[in-house]
Amino acid sequence: MSKTSAAITAVGAYVPEYVLTNQILETMVDTNDEWITSRTGIKERRILKGEGKGTSFLAINAAKDLIKKRGIDPKDIELVIVATATPDMKAASTAAFTASNIGAVNAFSFDLDAACSSFLFGMSVAAKYIESGSYKNVLLIGADKMSSMINYKDRATCIIFGDGAGAVLFEPTEENVGLRDEYLRSDGTGREFLQATYGGSSFPITAEAIEKGEHCAFQEGRTVFKNAVFNMADATVKILERNNLTKNDVDWLVAHQANKRIIDATANRIELEEEKVMMNIHKYGNTTSATLPLLLSDYESQLKKGDNLIFAAFGGGFNWGSIYLKWAYNS
Ligand code: UT7
Repeated sequence: MSKTSAAITAVGAYVPEYVLTNQILETMVDTNDEWITSRTGIKERRILKGEGKGTSFLAINAAKDLIKKRGIDPKDIELVIVATATPDMKAASTAAFTASNIGAVNAFSFDLDAACSSFLFGMSVAAKYIESGSYKNVLLIGADKMSSMINYKDRATCIIFGDGAGAVLFEPTEENVGLRDEYLRSDGTGREFLQATYGGSSFPITAEAIEKGEHCAFQEGRTVFKNAVFNMADATVKILERNNLTKNDVDWLVAHQANKRIIDATANRIELEEEKVMMNIHKYGNTTSATLPLLLSDYESQLKKGDNLIFAAFGGGFNWGSIYLKWAYNS
């Protein structure tokens, strides 16, 4: 009897209209286009504007894009996972609001937060529900409104992040495609280097914290950078070795878009040619949970059934890892 695998069978995406360019940032903080481009590879990012619009707005639009493209009835969706580090609100799940809004009235739903690795870990979770035979489809959405937790006076963070969302549908297959293997890790000793200190249960929000911007994301960039380079590359090497893959077997590297230099370092470690490395950081920046599905959306037309995709991510926590997935369809 052949084993049931979890395949990605559709992709959707959404980015907000407003474009925050490096030139605009030059008027906001002490920075310049040359520094941002050479240190990060980012030229512009999208920002969601509008009173009351949160991460669910992005997630709903990405899901609707997928539903339209795939032609599925939302009533047939069984589980909606919203991978996000910026939920709409505390206590009320962003996924529940998203699921109801898209008409997934027969689904259950939940949020999943592993910072920049939320979507990667979400792929693992979604695949398990499919492989076990529990559900016949899972809608996994990666969405973040990072602008809601950025201090636009802090040049070390405001140049990096942007808003966006991407969605994928996981379905069962008996064919030799879908999620093959995963190597996922966490190290909580890293949280001091990347966090938004106030606003959670350890340090509830105070007027003083807001005044100092301590409810916004803070990072010790150099330390995060070093850990990201080492761990993303290490996880990628491990997943190749475990599956007896050489660089020639890899069709695409789908790496979290936090800094072009981190992505290049990961690709170099496995000696992968530049044309096999998906890249869109120049136009979206770091959209946290949305980077991986936004890459899939941008490159979907180039993907062929049977292509070997190696996913990699690293983020706050620290959380990181790599996933090996065989692409399931031709566009
Ligand atoms: O999504 C996962 C989590 N995040 C990441 O993976 C991000 C990881 N870190 C990074 O991408 C990089 O560390 C940054 C892009 C944040 C910073 O780049 P860097 O090459 O590590 O710069 P640095 O922090 O070592 O700073 C170098 C210099 C400093 O000046 P001095 O001390 O050498 O005079 C900074 O003050 O660049 C200065 N600097 C800036 N200059 C212009 C820092 N930010 C800026 C800026 N514009 N925006």
